[in-house]
Amino acid sequence: MSKLFDPVRVGRHTLQNRLVMAPMTRSRAQFDGTPGELAAEYYAQRASAGLIVAEGTQPSDDGQGYLTTPGIYTDAHVAGWKRTTDAVHAKGGRIFIQLMHAGRMSHPDNTPHHREGVAPSAIAPGTGMFTAKGMQDIPVPRALTTAEVHRTVQDFRHAARRAVEAGADGVEIHGANAYLIQQFFAPSANTRTDAYGGSIENRTRFAIEVATAIAEEIGADRTAIRLSPGTTMWGIDEGDEGPDLYRYLVAELDKLGLAYLHIMHQGNDPLLADIRKRWKGSLILNRPGRPREQIGADVASGLADLESYGQMTLANPDFVDRLKANAPMNEADRNGFFGGTAQGYTDYPTLSETRAA
Ligand SMILES: Cc1cc2nc3c(=O)[nH]c(=O)nc-3n(C[C@H](O)[C@H](O)[C@H](O)COP(=O)(O)O)c2cc1C
Repeated sequence: MSKLFDPVRVGRHTLQNRLVMAPMTRSRAQFDGTPGELAAEYYAQRASAGLIVAEGTQPSDDGQGYLTTPGIYTDAHVAGWKRTTDAVHAKGGRIFIQLMHAGRMSHPDNTPHHREGVAPSAIAPGTGMFTAKGMQDIPVPRALTTAEVHRTVQDFRHAARRAVEAGADGVEIHGANAYLIQQFFAPSANTRTDAYGGSIENRTRFAIEVATAIAEEIGADRTAIRLSPGTTMWGIDEGDEGPDLYRYLVAELDKLGLAYLHIMHQGNDPLLADIRKRWKGSLILNRPGRPREQIGADVASGLADLESYGQMTLANPDFVDRLKANAPMNEADRNGFFGGTAQGYTDYPTLSETRAA
């Protein structure tokens, strides 16, 4: 496990260790998307991770899906995020902001303009969502025109510029978990007949254009992407061609020289091995629900350069110290995941606080 605590070069930055806080939506922003009052404290508490990937953050009004998620496209958003990046840097940490366009995973009651979600095609995900009025079905989205797809690429570019202005060390493009970019990958969500639908080349075009635009804007060495090959939730079905789509996509993205690729592993081990071969840069691996005794195994075996953890970092501000000390971990309380106050957010105790109590 010791290699986990060694510094590692990732893109432009040297990280203090190979443990990454995975991005986690906490829905505690203000209604206009400005990060909430406690966000700086929450992230600064976790600054001993080699890298923090901050929660999914919309690049535009259309990009919002859930209630009170932060944005990174207005001056108020930039000022709000600056407090967080300053607080993390003051404690020696590094932070990327995850750029998340929810696409069709959106409800009009949750967004500033109250319009329907936008997506590759007018196909509903077939699921519900928590909204300002409680749980509701997600309505059929509006299909983006080709010109709007081009504009959405520019929205991502603009958001990346603003993230850097806000002091972020880089951005991670959210290409995983059934949101807009993955909706383009999946024939079940993308029936377009223009240059963004049909063949593998066409269905991956949007992701590659977003990554290329952001790399041009802020530098490839501050640009990263997260993928979850084979996701099946919320109406996503990548079909038999799914693994080939990722082989092609990863090889194309590799040419850009991005800071890292973050894989949220869905279980296809041969595909993961192929991705590792095709990706020359740093690879962060997230295995949902990975048991404690396996922490460090992927870095030790060379399958990954870094490992990311979600719930363990949510519940343990001193996650890295606890690992080093082989100490017990706090359990995450699901009731405090989304929305609310300091409870379940900034009030998880460190080991020394627990011992003092
Ligand atoms: C409360 C919560 C919010 C999440 N929000 C995001 C998100 O905004 N973006 C994302 O890519 N993944 C998100 N995830 C997934 C995590 O990044 C991670 O992949 C998942 O929790 C599995 O890892 P773990 O078992 O270490 O928690 C979220 C997970 C949780 C628990």
